[in-house]
Amino acid sequence: MNILVTGGAGYIGSHTVIKLIEAGHTPVVVDNLCNSSAESLRRVAQITGVTPPFYQQDVRDTAALEAVFAKHAIDAVIHFAGLKAVGESTEKPLLYYQTNLDSTFTLLEVMRTFNVKTLVFSSSATVYGSEPAPYSEDSPIGRGITNPYGRTKYFIEEMLRDIASSDGSLAITSLRYFNPIGAHPSGLIGENPNGVPNNLMPYITQVAVGKRAELGVFGDDYDTVDGTGVRDYIHVDDLAEGHVAALTHSQTGYCAINLGSGEGTSVLQLVHAFEEASGAKVPYKIHPRRPGDVAVSYAKIARAADVLQWRTTRTIEDACRDSWRWQSGNPEGYK
Ligand code: NAD
Ligand code: UD1
Repeated sequence: MNILVTGGAGYIGSHTVIKLIEAGHTPVVVDNLCNSSAESLRRVAQITGVTPPFYQQDVRDTAALEAVFAKHAIDAVIHFAGLKAVGESTEKPLLYYQTNLDSTFTLLEVMRTFNVKTLVFSSSATVYGSEPAPYSEDSPIGRGITNPYGRTKYFIEEMLRDIASSDGSLAITSLRYFNPIGAHPSGLIGENPNGVPNNLMPYITQVAVGKRAELGVFGDDYDTVDGTGVRDYIHVDDLAEGHVAALTHSQTGYCAINLGSGEGTSVLQLVHAFEEASGAKVPYKIHPRRPGDVAVSYAKIARAADVLQWRTTRTIEDACRDSWRWQSGNPEGYK
């Protein structure tokens, strides 16, 4: 199938493009490169031997998007494009609402024009807000979300549900990602954050490679195994395969599905697993809790197994080893 991949030059998108090619699909990438580099797609070509068609444009540019649909006879869409920095979203909420919502509106309109029925949307575990973990897809969403980024995911999910129920021929899946880490085992592509990383794994790898002095651990007084926050880390290649499965098994209607491992790992457990896998040291210091953090987040994964016939196959150790291979081989990212 010809799959439009918005945001396909980004971290999760580039890994998914590889899995799509390996599954026999033809990905077509639209990305404005506001948080990525075309180098990621050159490396995808190096890994797969296939150069995916790439259009550097904003998803909100309706005419340009129509031209891509017209040229490539798009069968289905995976919509990764969006802004994702939680802190920035609290400073620039309008930018986040405009970018994330408008891009989705434009995409849905153009899909309607070209009679494309299948959409897979990048949602997040953040939609569960302050609900107690583990989260099932039937847990309420939207309550206690602490930032505009998270609310864009929630609003888009609600909108997609309405749109799917207004037209029974649409097949819309929201994939609620837990915490993606790791990199392609080649070490050629990986996560490439701008500036100081907000997320734990890129911070750990930047400390290990000597770019930053030490990790700040945000709180050691949570009610968890060692007092540090617990998350459900998922290897980005498992996540990427989850998208291929979502296309394969997509059904009419609206369906939200957790993509996680179903297991929780604490900050210090991840630090120690990383040190073990990499042989590098990660000095750390305990800091106060980060505002907006929950103590524990992990997924119930039965629906992904039932509906997508998918579950994670890679371990935390695999993810640590692959993150390290990427970071140590590319200390400046794609530069
Ligand atoms: P990323 O920033 O690496 O990728 C997003 C891509 O979208 C980037 O290449 C960026 O240039 C592009 N983009 C942004 N706005 C655009 C626009 N208006 N038009 C065209 N391209 C645009 O992020 P990622 O980690 O790969 O995340 C992909 C998706 O998954 C995002 O929607 C994100 O919110 C969601 N998500 C990510 C995580 C995570 O931890 N990485 C967790 C949950 C959900
Ligand atoms: C964060 C976002 C969430 C977003 C997700 C993926 C917040 C409140 N939540 O989730 O909306 O969907 O990223 O982009 O920002 N940690 C440290 N030191 C660090 C970084 C993180 O101790 O330098 C801890 C955190 O307190 C947390 C864990 O590591 O316990 C994971 O943090 P992070 O990678 O930022 O992910 P989330 O908090 O799950």
